[in-house]
Amino acid sequence: MKMVGFFITTILMFHLVMVPCVAFIPREWFNFIGFGNGEGQKPQPLLKYDPGEPLVLIGNEAENLGTADPAMATRTDLREKFYSRTCPKAEKIVADAVADTFKTNPNALANVIRLQFHDCFVGGCDASLLLDYIPSGDQVEKRSGFNGLLLKGADLIDDIKSKLEQECPQTVSCADTLVFATNEALILSGLPRQRPLGGRRDTLTSLAKMADDNNLPAPNWPLEKMIETFKRKGFNEEEMVILLGAHSVGSTHCDFIMYRAYNYKETNQPDPTLPQGVVDEIKKVCVDANTPKYRNPPMNFDETPTVLDNLFYKNMVERNRTLLETDAYLLNDPRTAPTVQQMATDPELFHKRFMELMKKLSTLNVLTGKDGEIRKTCRSTN
Ligand code: HEM
Repeated sequence: MKMVGFFITTILMFHLVMVPCVAFIPREWFNFIGFGNGEGQKPQPLLKYDPGEPLVLIGNEAENLGTADPAMATRTDLREKFYSRTCPKAEKIVADAVADTFKTNPNALANVIRLQFHDCFVGGCDASLLLDYIPSGDQVEKRSGFNGLLLKGADLIDDIKSKLEQECPQTVSCADTLVFATNEALILSGLPRQRPLGGRRDTLTSLAKMADDNNLPAPNWPLEKMIETFKRKGFNEEEMVILLGAHSVGSTHCDFIMYRAYNYKETNQPDPTLPQGVVDEIKKVCVDANTPKYRNPPMNFDETPTVLDNLFYKNMVERNRTLLETDAYLLNDPRTAPTVQQMATDPELFHKRFMELMKKLSTLNVLTGKDGEIRKTCRSTN
């Protein structure tokens, strides 16, 4: 009996002491020790990150984190004037080379802008796109159908890189060379001058199958798939519409648009959403629907193919004029149409937002610090 009394007294004492104490334990401690959040909800998964490589969330990225590909996180190690001590002339060398090329080949501006997009969306801004081969013998990104023979501008990057190597050997990465060249191309296309971020390093690998694996959009993708892909890279609908404003410079080959003028959805009729004027325009350039693939002539996206203006959006709003089917979807969906309308009426806002988003694009999943390498030539690993 004595034993039972002692036992009951001990339990009572324990409760008298512990219950008030528990009331003062901070809620987060419950999470930490795995008891949920103290409000009867499921515990939230912890975001995994390496404290050595802090994440920086730019613009709407924080909001997108739930859907974004975690591999596409950006890093704080990038900074302006990265080469101010190691290669002070780097940015000027790039700027002079791009300006020189522009004099004889103004299309180069559009070429490099597209190169940056295709490099950054596949694995990150790591110059994987520039490799001609990798030691494993696997097909490199350049060989992917999404890049194929239609990707131009790599020779300009080679040119700039060899100038940089002469000035400061193995110092400026190919990934930075591409971003710096693109930044310069944007300025020459009419955007406000800004200094590019530097500090990227070059990857040792490049795989065509990664480019094929829903990382680069095709011109006949439905809007849903475009939105999903851009979200995975950290860009919301508004940001996607603004980045697509890049289709204000350069051209598309007839391969990608002819069907809209000649044989939309196997009907032998034009795309019914295209005004007759645009159908005629396409037919005038894309004369022969039977021209072999990749031999078709290019058609400028708009009337000013070397100026990054808002004509792409104005043409859409005022004349329902688009060349790529994917661009046409932007005007007809409530998730994207308001941004098209806004960009069509506010050229300054387009310039400002486009520059910001190209900067954000240039930070996707970069290699920094001791990762990767600084290639001697952009076409092969060291
Ligand atoms: C849904 C998204 C996109 C699709 C389906 C798409 C598709 C295409 C296609 C089919 C071409 C024509 C290629 C050729 O015939 O040589 C093209 C050209 C181009 N794209 Fe895109 N693109 C997309 C997004 C972007 C983005 C986000 C950028 C840049 C930020 C971009 C920049 C360019 C540029 C500058 C050109 C002209 C290239 C030149 O003239 O050399 N595109 N795009």
